[in-house]
Amino acid sequence: MVLRSETGEVEGVTLTKSICSIWDQVWNFQARPDDLLIATYAKAGTTWTQETVDMIQQNGDVEKCRRATIAKRHPFLEWFIEDPLSTPYSEKPVMDLAEAMPSPRTIKTHLPVQLVPPSFWKQNCKVIYVARNAKDNLVSYYHFHRMNKALPDPGTWEEFIEKFMTGKVLWGSWYDHVKGWWKAKDKHRILYLFYEDMKENPEQEIQKILKFLEKDVNQEVLNKIVHNTSFEIMKENPMANYTREFQAIMDHSISPFMRKGAVGDWKNHFTVAQNKKFDEDYKKKMADTSLVFRTEL
Ligand code: A3P
Repeated sequence: MVLRSETGEVEGVTLTKSICSIWDQVWNFQARPDDLLIATYAKAGTTWTQETVDMIQQNGDVEKCRRATIAKRHPFLEWFIEDPLSTPYSEKPVMDLAEAMPSPRTIKTHLPVQLVPPSFWKQNCKVIYVARNAKDNLVSYYHFHRMNKALPDPGTWEEFIEKFMTGKVLWGSWYDHVKGWWKAKDKHRILYLFYEDMKENPEQEIQKILKFLEKDVNQEVLNKIVHNTSFEIMKENPMANYTREFQAIMDHSISPFMRKGAVGDWKNHFTVAQNKKFDEDYKKKMADTSLVFRTEL
């Protein structure tokens, strides 16, 4: 039996108690200049971006991309669960895996920009940030809380919307997260992408990643990457769909990790009243940014 995580805070940002317990180690993580960081708010399309980046790095070689699960290919910087029964990484922070990894490394994080270990900035590392519109991100996060016992109990849908709006969810406020990273892109080597753009025109967004990583592939390889990173293919890929590990914490029969992979699914969840309230609050919270999201295609 895995117990749902208790939460704590680091500089006002909600994290699991386990992550809080190793915070000094996270903060002092030593990045290397050729590290690539994939940063997202949870459920914004992290895994999709990871698979895309790996496909690029492996020059479209599907077999090489299946050398290990996505969690092992790209260590999840801050993740740690103290419960020894719950994950293959249980006894040690995932960071230890990252430290032992040869360069060049690709590392995943959900940290808001102000909590990223300073060595990433000192080393001038490249970062790919992916953002997803708040409503679809929220829906996806709700279902993920239902199926992932390592996260706090989401409560009802209504309760979870409220929690999301107040920012008292894991990794903190979505609003602050997307705005913080948006601002940071003017100071650091950050490629800021949108889930909706990736969905609408994957080839174009993959081209942006290629350029950012200073890589070149021919059209045949590009087609292969587009195909293998599509939702339909990734849903069936055990090395990307989280069915190979974390069995003790993720219950895909409640809601699969690869759930819908769509833009606009929020319309199947929000009532008219919930939508109105959410929009009014959204306007206030996003008044101080030039960031614009699309909630439908
Ligand atoms: P849904 O729950 O809306 O289906 P993360 O990897 O950040 O945890 O995000 C998971 C979300 O991205 C899930 O959203 C998942 O289905 C979606 N996703 C994963 N791979 C995808 C792909 N290739 N194309 C589109 N969406 C994808």
